[in-house]
Amino acid sequence: MSTNSLSDLDLQIASLSVHADDSYAMVSDVAPPLHVSTTYHYNSDPSKLKSAKEHDIRVRDEQSSFIYSRFGNPVVERVEAVLSAILNGHAVVYSSGLAAYTAALAYYNPRRLSMTDGYQGCHGVARIFNRFSGLEQVPLYDDSVSTGDLVHLETPINPTGLSVDLAKAVEFAHCRGAKVIVDATFAPPPLQDPFEFGVDMVMHSATKYLGGHSDLLAGVLVTKDPQVRLALLQDRGLLGGAPGNFESWLLLRSLRTFKLRVETQAKNAGKIVAWLDSAIKNNEIPALTKVYHSSLQTDEFVRKQLKTGLYSPAFSIEVESVEVAKSIPSRLKLFHHATSLGGVESLIEWRAMSDTSVPETLLRLSIGVEDADDLIADLKAALLSFSAK
Ligand SMILES: Cc1ncc(COP(=O)(O)O)c(C=O)c1O
Repeated sequence: MSTNSLSDLDLQIASLSVHADDSYAMVSDVAPPLHVSTTYHYNSDPSKLKSAKEHDIRVRDEQSSFIYSRFGNPVVERVEAVLSAILNGHAVVYSSGLAAYTAALAYYNPRRLSMTDGYQGCHGVARIFNRFSGLEQVPLYDDSVSTGDLVHLETPINPTGLSVDLAKAVEFAHCRGAKVIVDATFAPPPLQDPFEFGVDMVMHSATKYLGGHSDLLAGVLVTKDPQVRLALLQDRGLLGGAPGNFESWLLLRSLRTFKLRVETQAKNAGKIVAWLDSAIKNNEIPALTKVYHSSLQTDEFVRKQLKTGLYSPAFSIEVESVEVAKSIPSRLKLFHHATSLGGVESLIEWRAMSDTSVPETLLRLSIGVEDADDLIADLKAALLSFSAK
């Protein structure tokens, strides 16, 4: 359910993250309980019982009780109330980002998928759909895009953190009768709201910034259309992509501090990128050759999309050789060498380990909530250690 008693108030993200699910509390506890049951008692009043022919058991309305956890449970509903409020639409939650993406492709069932570069897993899901339905993958702005097709934009893009022009792609797609889905994982609110540019669906890997603690897998699709939400819930009830009860509870708990975390991470990243950029321009660190980040793009659309002046907390650098790229993680003290992003702890990844599409000199950084100056000092010492040979 995405309606709640606070909907008349003009609350901001920080308040919504804490209160958008208040009306879903069943007892008086302040912290939401974890419900582990997979099945729920039917109504003990025989006159209230409805057969499956009379109502859709996959979609709970306010009058009916919970039935079976795959169709909905109290924790998932609370998470969806918060995510609907902060992501500015009707949110449907899944067991991972890729489960959400799979659900989106199953719902739109396009003939052609026109895609930006970006997270390789989404390209992999599209290849599986090619086996099911013959789905054809074509580049962004391909001339073949037409009615019934889907344009998939990722912005900012994984792993570079560079932005693509949403307004331009939406105009291209809608003129041709195609729909647009945006994977906005790299810039969650308040950094960016893709709905402002007329996109049809927004997706996030909630494993990243929404979860924010590297301890849960989840994904979310967001739509402005209540009928699409209904169809997604019906599909989810059958495809089985519902999130686990415990993961949903962890996500709900994490969302309480969502804005604090994301803003701190984005501010830290901005400071670190500015330092890296000036170090390259002043030739201070010979081993460092490139830094990629939306904050360094000069295109006007970037400022319109990331209008708060904060940019993705994840970005990439390139260094002088593959050997240096492989060695840097082990010379850092405050960054874990690990894949993924969005958690409170800073990560760095020699990206070639998990992505075949990038140069082997590229490292992806995911900035956490540590002190930015400490992170800069750590990076500086590691990067300079290669010129002291
Ligand atoms: C941009 C992006 N989209 C989607 C995903 C997939 O999300 P998940 O790992 O939660 O399935 C990822 C994972 O890294 C990602 O970076």
